[in-house]
This record gives sequence, structure tokens and C-alpha cells, in this order.
Amino acid sequence: MAGAVTKAVIPAAGLGTRFLPATKALPKEMLPVVDRPAIQYVVEEAVDAGIGDVLMVTGRNKTPLENHFDRVAELEETLAARGDDARLAAVRAANELADVHYLRQGQPLGLGHAVLRAKQHVGRSSFAVLLGDDIIVDGGAMLAEMIAVNERTGASVIAVQEVPHELTSSYGIVTPAETDEALDGAKWPLVRVASLVEKPAPEDAPSNLAIIGRYVLRPEVFEVLERTGPGRGGEIQLTDALQELAADPEGTGGVIAMVFPGRRYDTGNKLDYLKANLELAAQHPEIGPAVREWLRTDAAALGEEPGA
Ligand code: UTP
Repeated sequence: MAGAVTKAVIPAAGLGTRFLPATKALPKEMLPVVDRPAIQYVVEEAVDAGIGDVLMVTGRNKTPLENHFDRVAELEETLAARGDDARLAAVRAANELADVHYLRQGQPLGLGHAVLRAKQHVGRSSFAVLLGDDIIVDGGAMLAEMIAVNERTGASVIAVQEVPHELTSSYGIVTPAETDEALDGAKWPLVRVASLVEKPAPEDAPSNLAIIGRYVLRPEVFEVLERTGPGRGGEIQLTDALQELAADPEGTGGVIAMVFPGRRYDTGNKLDYLKANLELAAQHPEIGPAVREWLRTDAAALGEEPGA
């Protein structure tokens, strides 16, 4: 059986080419969303779901990530001397969140390869994977639910969302199994997965259920990844390894997809990044009221065609 989920792996070693030149010298996970780097939301989500041990798989320019989750004694001393308790608490929050470990991927050979690097750290239990550039601000509710489904069923669990059919070529897409197996008891719909395919053209896509960046995986995935060769784009794809787990429900528990209805932002994508900033700014306790007022009034004019 799967066992309790106590560890999360956060792959953060991608090249971030969609956000160049901003990501030339800075990992995309360090781009700020309102008042903290994107990666802090991801670690907060893991912690909110009950996970205290986080392994970040990093690549080039990793130093800012490590620095962010480390203490900065002189900054803390200055803020303490000034009596600025609110900022002191904000600075300390990042390094007090979780037990964060780091590992270099070596070469960005793909998401599957990044996850495989975590094998030794994870050991023989099920574990969570949170993509470091995906933000889901739900207080860890979805991940906690995925963990509960993994513990209850022994399956690997992936989060999916319905996407417009023409966008299937940007995602891993699942084929739901035709089964009368009862998969209920979770907050959101669950679907047994028959197979998965990475970034299919819309005409080849078996459904519009797209994998988003949250997974709770059985440790057997490591053995599968070890023999998974390069797939789409020449990269070792996690989707290809999941395909093998999905095909073997008797041996490895198979794969169950949870259909998440909430919002999710891919901060490696410029438009989604801006939307994440606007939505989270509008909810922010300090600047939220002013942002909402600005959106209702001045921002409307920005919707006009330039020069109109
Ligand atoms: P993406 O598909 O977003 O690729 O990776 P990318 O290289 O990061 O960004 P673009 O497409 O060039 O803009 C999905 C996730 O997998 C991680 C990324 O950090 C991201 O969290 N990843 C990808 C790795 O950790 N290593 C890899 O070799 C590839």
C-alpha cells in the first residue's frame, strides 16, 4: 500500500524560455506575484496540505531560491531594531515554513528526469509533486484531498482541469477509463485514467481533461522513470511514466484524476502570470481595496484598443 504522504518534490529546474528575457538571470519561480515569489505560494500550499518536508529540484541560477528560504540575519536585526514587527514576520515566514532541501537536476532532461532525481530522498512512500511555476491558492485543499484519495485507494492521483479543446497541445491529456468502479467520497469528481498522452494536437486529443501541476505518486513511479526514454520534445516525460502506471492498476494501483474546478495559474506563461498578480492583488488585505477600486475605474480604459 501507499503509506502516509509526508514529502513533496518541487521541480524548479526548467529553463523558463517562455518568459525570456525576464528569466535570463532569475528562475521564473522567483518572479514576484504581488509581494512574494511564485515559489513561496507553492511551498505554502504543500505546508497547508500537511507536508513539512520539501525537496526542490533546481537548475542553473538556483541561488535566489535557496536564499529566499534561508535566514537573513542582518535584515532581521535591522527590522527588529526598528520595531517593524509586520515586515519581520513576513521575512521570517519563508524560512520557517518547511524543512526545504535542494538537489541539482544536472541537466534539464525533462520533468520525468527531475522527479527521478528525488528517488533517494523520497524512499518507499507515496509523495506529492508540485510544479514550482504553477500557483493554486486554495489553502492546500486540493492537495490534501488528493493525498486522502491516494491513501484510501492506493492509486497515484493527478489533478486535471477541463481546457478548451484547441489548447490540448499545451498539456498532458488523459483518457478516462470506461468502468463502473465507484470513485466517490472526494470533494471533487474523480475519474479512473485509462491512458495519458503528452501535448496531443486537438484532432488527436482523447478528451479535454488536462493535467495541471499537482500529483500524488506511488514510489513505483521511480522504477518506471528509470526505464522511460526520451519522449515528446526529446525530454523524459512524467506523463509517459504515468501511462505505464495507469496501464497496471493491479500492480501499482493505477492512476486516478481529480477534476479541480478552482483557479490555477501557470506563472511561466506571461498572460497567466499577469492574471495571478491581478487576482491575488485584488484579494490582498493591504492593497486589495485600492486594487479593486482601480480595476472598476481606471483599468477599464486599458481595455480599449491602443490609439482608439
Ligand atoms: P515547463 O514545461 O514549464 O518547461 O516545465 P520550462 O523549461 O520550465 O519552461 P519553458 O517552457 O521553457 O518556458 C514544467 C515543470 O517542470 C520543471 C519546470 O521547472 C516546471 O516546474 N522542469 C522541466 C524541470 O524541473 N526540469 C526539466 O528538465 C524540465
